[in-house]
Amino acid sequence: MDIVLGLQWGDEGKGKFIDLISQNYDIVARFNGGANAGHSIERYGKRITLKSLPSGIFMKGVQNVIGTGMVLDPVNFKKEVLNLRSFDETIQVEKHVSISKKAHLVLPTHQLMDVFMEENSSYTAIGTTRNGIGQAYANKILRQNLRVGDILSPDFTDRIIHILERDYNQLLSYGQILPSLEKLCEDFFDAVEFLKRFEFIEAEIFLNNSLSEGKTMLAEGAQATLLDIDHGTYPYVTSSTTLAAGACSGLGISPKKVGEIYGVAKAYCTRVGNGIFPTEIFNDLGEEIRQKGNEFGSNTGRPRRIGWLDLPALKYAVMINGVTQLVLTKADVLSGFESVAVCTHYEIQNQQISVMHGLFIDDEVQPVLQWMKGWDEDISNYDDASSLPEQLKNYLSFLEKELKIPVSYLSTGPGREQIIKMD
Ligand code: IMP
Repeated sequence: MDIVLGLQWGDEGKGKFIDLISQNYDIVARFNGGANAGHSIERYGKRITLKSLPSGIFMKGVQNVIGTGMVLDPVNFKKEVLNLRSFDETIQVEKHVSISKKAHLVLPTHQLMDVFMEENSSYTAIGTTRNGIGQAYANKILRQNLRVGDILSPDFTDRIIHILERDYNQLLSYGQILPSLEKLCEDFFDAVEFLKRFEFIEAEIFLNNSLSEGKTMLAEGAQATLLDIDHGTYPYVTSSTTLAAGACSGLGISPKKVGEIYGVAKAYCTRVGNGIFPTEIFNDLGEEIRQKGNEFGSNTGRPRRIGWLDLPALKYAVMINGVTQLVLTKADVLSGFESVAVCTHYEIQNQQISVMHGLFIDDEVQPVLQWMKGWDEDISNYDDASSLPEQLKNYLSFLEKELKIPVSYLSTGPGREQIIKMD
């Protein structure tokens, strides 16, 4: 099993890379998160954002699995499938996607509670995607949630109604103005019926058997390392395990079976939502990169915060994931800048820190930037590593030396063909 995951705060371009390499695999299995993800893929000159569907969906012959570590919102999922169908009616989604019976359900009240907590000043506002992700995972950990497999049990409707009524009444007691419970239930049960068109599987058995039969498999991570619930910049993180280890627990695969671990990083950093961001750029340059790189949330439309490439954060992400190959995206966005910066280390209370670690607060961290000569050439049509501008080659060698892993792929634009395999 190979793994693809994000090394920064998400939106690194994992979807495009997975879409590209999925041709080498029999199975693509998503291991964490839910509709909070926004994996953008360009096809036929149009762009689509996948949320819960694995990014192998466009590759004929690939079986896509919604893994146990995910949380699935039937209402959102139905919309996503219908949207995909109108984007490309040739894809037989039901045939090529199966869903783990142990994946947890996201309920409409989870979403309402997420919004309530974001908007109520007595809670810490995380800047979530408001999809109810944290609520679903919280209820999973509390052992109060229902799973996809429960849909098949005869008392499913009663159990769901009980939970929805209870949580709805709790929200009402907080003075929330809510859509009617009848409408929420109607939409939810309608979407559950739709979900039944998909095969619910014992994902662990299916995946392990497939590997034993010699099939190849790619584990797809959503969000990214610095948003990991344990090792990210807590509390401004998502609620799942986004790391390589999460691929094993989220899919039920032994770590012994892991092969390549592809870490995807942008040539600069972005972040949506709140939380520490040591290399954030606050001046016009940040705005220029935002516009050039179209850095607006694919899921929420929010403008993304922009920062320089952060080596202490990347070293940390490479270390805790055991990344074997780096996939660098959006280097084309930096074309045309006279010089580009990389943060080589932080200064915190007069100490030099070269690998990010857990608990520090924004004010304490001084990023130390190294400026490098930029490249003028528009690289978006380059398809050969040897012809890349010298300054970009220097930049890549610098990263390889610092991170001690090869840059294996360089993405040069949003299009499917705009990627260079480096050798
Ligand atoms: P949640 O996952 O919706 O609970 O949001 C928690 C944090 O993770 C927020 O800062 C979100 O902006 C961030 N987040 C969640 N999913 C993504 C993603 O796919 N890309 C970037 N940030 C994300």
